[in-house]
Order: sequence, then C-alpha cells, then structure tokens
Amino acid sequence: ARQVVLVRRDPTLKVCGEDMKQVDTLQEEDGDGISVVSNSCGKIVFIGKESERKRKYVESATTRIIDASGKCVLPGFVDAHTHPVWAGDRVHEFAMKLAGATYMEVHKAGGGIHFTVEHTRKASEEELYDGLKQRLNSMMKTGTTLVECKSGYGLNKETEVKMLKVIDRARREIPIGISSTFCGAHAVPKGGNSEDATNDVISVQLPCIRDMMDRKELHVDNIDVFCEQGVFDIDQSRRILTAGKNMGLQINFHGDELHPLEGAKMGAELGALSISHLEEISDAGISAMAKAGSIGVVLPTTANILRLKPPPVRKMIDSGMAVALGSDFNPNAFCSSMPLVMHLACVILRMSMPEVLIAATLNAAAALGKSDTHGSLNEGKCANMVVIDAPRWEHIVYQLGFHNSLIDFVICDGNVV
Ligand code: NIG
Ligand code: FE
Repeated sequence: ARQVVLVRRDPTLKVCGEDMKQVDTLQEEDGDGISVVSNSCGKIVFIGKESERKRKYVESATTRIIDASGKCVLPGFVDAHTHPVWAGDRVHEFAMKLAGATYMEVHKAGGGIHFTVEHTRKASEEELYDGLKQRLNSMMKTGTTLVECKSGYGLNKETEVKMLKVIDRARREIPIGISSTFCGAHAVPKGGNSEDATNDVISVQLPCIRDMMDRKELHVDNIDVFCEQGVFDIDQSRRILTAGKNMGLQINFHGDELHPLEGAKMGAELGALSISHLEEISDAGISAMAKAGSIGVVLPTTANILRLKPPPVRKMIDSGMAVALGSDFNPNAFCSSMPLVMHLACVILRMSMPEVLIAATLNAAAALGKSDTHGSLNEGKCANMVVIDAPRWEHIVYQLGFHNSLIDFVICDGNVV
C-alpha cells in the first residue's frame, strides 16, 4: 500500500484531548510500499516495508496476497453503539418527525420503541436472525469490523433473552466482531411504570441472563439503560447499572440525551466504561467523565435526524475526555455506515478528520473494553482492515456517500469478507 494508517503507536490506550488531533501513518518511500501480514489465527504479525516483508516471509500455496498498490489501508471501523435486532417498519415515523414531532412525542403516542417492541415480541428467533445478518453484512460493506449490538426491544425476560441469543448466534456465525449489550431497560413497557420495570430488570431479567451466562448458554458483555426524563431516572438507572456491574458486565449506557439529568456524573461515579449520546451533558459531567476515564460515545446520526443540539464535543476533547463514535443504527436513526457517521461528526460535531478516525477505531474499541485487541493496526492485534482506493485516507471521510466505490476490501480477522 501507499499509506498504512496505524492510528496510534501505543495500541492499547484510548486517546484523549490533544492526542486526538493526530493519527500515525506509514508512507511508501522510493516506491517501496508498506505491507501488512496476518497469520492463520487472524492476527497481525508484521507491518513494514514491502522489501522487508519479501525477505522475511515465504509465500505458500495458501497465502492470499492483496495488491493494494497506490491505495490506503486503515484499521477496520468500530461502531460503538447500535440497536440492530428488530422487526417492524418505522418509515412512517420519519415523516412525522420531518413534520415537527419530537422523539418523545412519537414515543408517547405509542410509536418509537413501543412500536418496535410490539413487532419484535411477535417475531421468531429465525426472523430476527435473518434481519440482523443482513444488517451486519451491510455494516461490513462499509468497513465496520467490530460492532456493539444491544437488545432492548423486548422489555421482558422472554424477548430480551431471544434478542441476546440472536446476537450471540451472529457472534459465532458472522465474521464481524460483536460486543453484546443487555438493554432490558430501554423503555418502560406500555401501561407499566418505571419502578416496576426497574425491579423486573434487576430481579427477573438479569438473574435469568446471569444463569444462562453461568451455564455458558449466552455471552453478554455490557449493561445499558435509557437514563432519561420520563424513562428511567438517575436512581433507577444507578440501581440497574450496579446490578449489571455486580455480575461482571461493563457499564455502557444512554445518558444526558434529551434532558440534562446529570447521567454522566452518575455514570462516572459508577466507573462507567462508556456513556452514549451526551447532547445535554453539563460541564460538571464532562469533568467527572474525564477524571473517571469514562469514554463519551457520540452519535451524530441521532442529533441529525432529531434535529437535536449537538453534544459539546469540542469541550469534551479539550477537557481531556476520550470521545468515540457510534452509528446508533436503529429504526429511528437508520444508518449503519461509519464513513457517513465520520463525515457527519466532522460537519455537525466540528471534529477534525484525525479525531473522527480515532473516535471510529481505537476509541470506539476502548469504549467496548477491546482496545487491547482491536481498533488499530499493530502487531499482535486482530487483522481487521479496510483497503480504500484513494491516495490519502482522508478520502473515506471527505467523500460523502462514496464508500461503495472507495472501499476495495474489508478484512475481518485476516479474511476478506
Ligand atoms: O439511542 N434513545 C434510546 N434509544 C435509541 C432509539 C431507539 C428507538 O427509537 O428505537 C437511541 O437513539
Ligand atoms: Fe441508542
């Protein structure tokens, strides 16, 4: 390749503040290209000059060589926040929102999450799996190689477990990497109240999931809650997240999106790995997250479609917080393309191109607790890569909606997908 984008030299660190302004790249010199070699376990074993690669490695009959002359190689993108398992179609709500309805107005009228819950409860595991598989395949086409996937359209034990099983099957059968999140507290079930819903999550849903995890019937990584006015309040969210943490799940939740509830402060106190949205985060919330090392996952597609005030990303980065990106792919924000998310983050959130690349790779991996294995090109890490047909990597951010023609290859664990 002409240019191999490493992201950062210290591969396990999440990147904060000033350091987000620069990515590390290796450049072709005097026609001697840059090579990346992965082993049969899908790990990177070499990154360096083409001439050195030729001296060190003998090609065998099974070696697959991808000629990336004149092209750029980037780390596979990491999408730190998605809701990709659902049934039912909410295209009609887009028109309602364009006509001025807010997210909560649609939700309170029985649409939004409620609509999707109704359809997801009725869907079979097979149907949900087929939909998920299709969506994960689209994500890989746009360069995503690791993605966080949430449950949360069941709101009861039966359907939440069904969703988590579907995510777990995809984790085993589809080449994309998956971090699985239990989000049984995504909304208060229709006709119920938030206190009963909190107790159901803590005393019914979580124990069932813990038992299944103990029996190795299920793999779950993170605990989530929609901490929001009119959904789960600060105290209920804290109880849910603590119960998840006590069974070994990483805290990764929705906070300070529509109202300034100080969810960021509460999460930082609990040592949250990451907190998403943060459109309404306070200055105190920013300092608390920076101090606790919690990562802010920002979702420009949501701010875009709901016409929300964007989260104060410049302030976050300047305060030393680590910022990551997610697509928030869900029936409300129907976008799973990380190149598009990076572009929106530059324009709407005023991030620079190096900042959005770090946020969509190493920091997103760190937001999932996986920066030791994912998110940058380093020897020993998973061979997750995107080959783009452009002379400089910035084209993947700059060209709006051209990822189809720009992305030549997506490689997950050493295999072209
Ligand atoms: O992150 N805010 C809550 N959850 C999702 C929306 C889910 C939905 O509307 O179906 C989000 O935007
Ligand atoms: Fe979300």
